Amino acid sequence: MTKLESVYKLWPELEWIQNADLKDKTAHTWALALEKSVLTPEDLVRIPFTLLCGPDLKVSFMAHKRCVVHIAKEAALKMNNFFENELPVNMDVLFAGAILADVGKLLEYELKDGKTVQGTYGKYIRHPFSGVALAEQCGIPPEVCHIIAAHAGEGDMIKRSVEAYIVHYADFMTFEPFRERLKP
Ligand SMILES: [Fe+2]
Repeated sequence: MTKLESVYKLWPELEWIQNADLKDKTAHTWALALEKSVLTPEDLVRIPFTLLCGPDLKVSFMAHKRCVVHIAKEAALKMNNFFENELPVNMDVLFAGAILADVGKLLEYELKDGKTVQGTYGKYIRHPFSGVALAEQCGIPPEVCHIIAAHAGEGDMIKRSVEAYIVHYADFMTFEPFRERLKP
């Protein structure tokens, strides 16, 4: 199976992107990341989605990333439905940005004794930056690169687009309760 074929297997949500060119460039960005990464497609369905929630976290990288894309889609559909033209959400831009938000994470990892750890590159260049670098190499347009750049804490420093806000909150609402939450 080629890298591109494994990307389409990992990400059935690519089919939601209507613009064929954007879909193709989004898939190619993931294929490029896999080429440069120590991680394989099999690792992505096995390793925990973050290194910040301790060693017992069982939710996989792909389970979390795909959940964020699904939440972003449902949130955007509701917003387009209730707010109509007052706050239009571009669904293709949203889908591509949500799928690519963490693509740079593939460059953050190193394998040490079979375990995933943050590598030196990842310490210096966090994934919002490496993600934009990968996406630009594949011709991803700026409104989508913006979502990658602004999805995490770094994005608090700049003005986010509506699509970037949605991806940011979809990502954080499914991350922060894993890190810390009130328990009964
Ligand atoms: Fe992220």
